[in-house]
Amino acid sequence: MGKQVRRIGVFTSGGDAPGMNAAIRSVVRSALHMGIECVGIRRGYHGLINGDIIPLNFESVSGMARRGGTMLYSARSEDFKARQGQERAIATCKLLGLDAPVGIGGDGSFRGLLTLAKQGLSVIGIPGTIDNDIACSTYTIGFDSACNTALECIDKLRDTMQSHERCSVVEVMGRHAGHLALEVGVACGATAVLVPEHEVDYERDLIEPIRQLRLGGHTHYMVIVAEGVCSAYEVAKRIHEETTVDTRVTVLGHIQRGGKPSSRDRTAATYMGYKAVSLLAEGKSCRVVAMQNEKYVDFDIEEALNMTKGLDEQTYTVMRALSGRK
Ligand code: ADP
Ligand code: F6P
Repeated sequence: MGKQVRRIGVFTSGGDAPGMNAAIRSVVRSALHMGIECVGIRRGYHGLINGDIIPLNFESVSGMARRGGTMLYSARSEDFKARQGQERAIATCKLLGLDAPVGIGGDGSFRGLLTLAKQGLSVIGIPGTIDNDIACSTYTIGFDSACNTALECIDKLRDTMQSHERCSVVEVMGRHAGHLALEVGVACGATAVLVPEHEVDYERDLIEPIRQLRLGGHTHYMVIVAEGVCSAYEVAKRIHEETTVDTRVTVLGHIQRGGKPSSRDRTAATYMGYKAVSLLAEGKSCRVVAMQNEKYVDFDIEEALNMTKGLDEQTYTVMRALSGRK
């Protein structure tokens, strides 16, 4: 039997993602339901170091499931990466009686949680990032909303690209991973999707497909570039130089992190928040909540951090097959 948890401190860390507020709401209300107190730690690990906490109750998270951003602010803290910062955070937790930090974020945030677990705190991680790059989980909160936002923008771009017979080169986020680019590319019917998981051969993957499509009567093209590959400007220049097709670049940037969370993100966040608190109530610690085969499960944080996640190769194959390649 693990330790009995009295006071949870929920926080968001790293890049924000639509659905983080829904996860906060779920953690707070699940905790209340299970007779555990819950406070909010603001600005990620900065807040943990500096004791930046706010009380949270049933009413303070009312209406939060539908709101974008994070009501607790998010931040990246270099101080927390150093031992001194971690010691200050532990001291703050002791002073404030916080025995269970629950962090919503990505791999980096989970590494931070691991350091706290090693100092005896009961910690749980919830995967929240638009990149969908957490190895132990097939899904991360924010991914679906970010895909939908990107898609909405790309549909608009396609209208004007069609009118002017141009090639649109759209750069999407994803850090070192291509999950977002691939999903968006399949959904918008892209001419080509460049992802960091596959070495790019410009002639084979980009120039030749555009030439072939043009010979077949195609007049406009949509190329999706994951930010982890290279700059979309480089890609556009190359396309224009080698095919003479007129190109325009759009870097979608942080727009992908904003907006109302989709139904999928609200529900994933709600289930994951509930699961996080249930684990603590059962006396478990040092776990990451995850999705596997559409079920909510959990992994040891260290084990989770050692796992790797590849691109969905079936999706990649389908994308290539439908984009007119031989
Ligand atoms: P994400 O959680 O989305 O991967 P980051 O990689 O920026 O985002 O990590 C968020 C924060 O987690 C960092 O600013 C830092 O405070 C903390 N963190 C990241 N890596 C470590 C580490 N190795 N040890 C301790 N804390 C870390
Ligand atoms: O991890 C989420 C993410 O949006 C990545 O896709 C991107 O590379 C990074 O964060 C951008 O971070 P920042 O908000 O610091 O510009």
